[in-house]
Amino acid sequence: MIIVTSVAEARAAISRWRGDGCSIGLVPTMGYFHDGHLELMRASVRQTDKTVVSLFVNPTQFGPEEDLEVYPRDLEGDCAKASQVGVDLVFRPQPNEIYSPGHQTEVSLAGLASGLCADDRPGHFTGVATVVAKLFNIVLPDFAFFGEKDFQQLRIIRQLTEDLNFSIGIVGVPIVREADGLAMSSRNYYLSESERSEVLVLYRALHHIRHKVLEEQVAKADELINQGAVMIKKCVSCTLEYLSIVDEKSLQAVSDIEGKCRVLGAIRVNQRIRLIDNMALYR
Ligand code: PAF
Repeated sequence: MIIVTSVAEARAAISRWRGDGCSIGLVPTMGYFHDGHLELMRASVRQTDKTVVSLFVNPTQFGPEEDLEVYPRDLEGDCAKASQVGVDLVFRPQPNEIYSPGHQTEVSLAGLASGLCADDRPGHFTGVATVVAKLFNIVLPDFAFFGEKDFQQLRIIRQLTEDLNFSIGIVGVPIVREADGLAMSSRNYYLSESERSEVLVLYRALHHIRHKVLEEQVAKADELINQGAVMIKKCVSCTLEYLSIVDEKSLQAVSDIEGKCRVLGAIRVNQRIRLIDNMALYR
């Protein structure tokens, strides 16, 4: 596995592979790999000839009060894990390699980048869309792989790919969960033992809603959101940021659950740790 830090080195290796007729998969990450990340890499290794993983804690997607400085990092461990699953190249640039001094261009979306996570993280999706568009331009992959855990992000990336005419297949990879249901996240690392068991309330609320829709044919979104919110509010350390049932494509809240709908939620634990999760409300 090759590890490079500059755009020029990444492009040189990738264009050699492309010259050999290889297809290229890109897995954009911010590092501190867990099995959710490795699942994205495995999907790319299965589907493409060469897999490129970018490892970049993107400063522009963090708000001033957020955890950029303390975001967990483990470069050596990450490279070992990526190599084990068959990644061909890790691109780990410094911020000035991605954002040249005086850069002025941003990618921002209108509708999809408002509401849900954007309410609590203003500017976050502009940071994500900008860095993803840059990575797409650097790597020019045939396919790019993103987790469904960040469902709003995935939807935004599909839209920007279409809007900016990138010829890249966007592959959404299902959420990888711990044995008890907790969605894997680098931010789980911040949880104390007691918080770790309390935050399961989000998974349970989503699971309750999915069960009601699929097994009991309840279709009224408000009724189910109220039930889920009551469950989450019983957790004293958790603050509910949002719980919403949306149409998967528009991400607009629905009142009657029909077709491809999804329940999305975010909680904050002891004001410090923000966790998100979601579930499809169809089979
Ligand atoms: O999902 C993430 O880890 C990040 O938002 C991404 C897509 C790598 C962009 O920095």
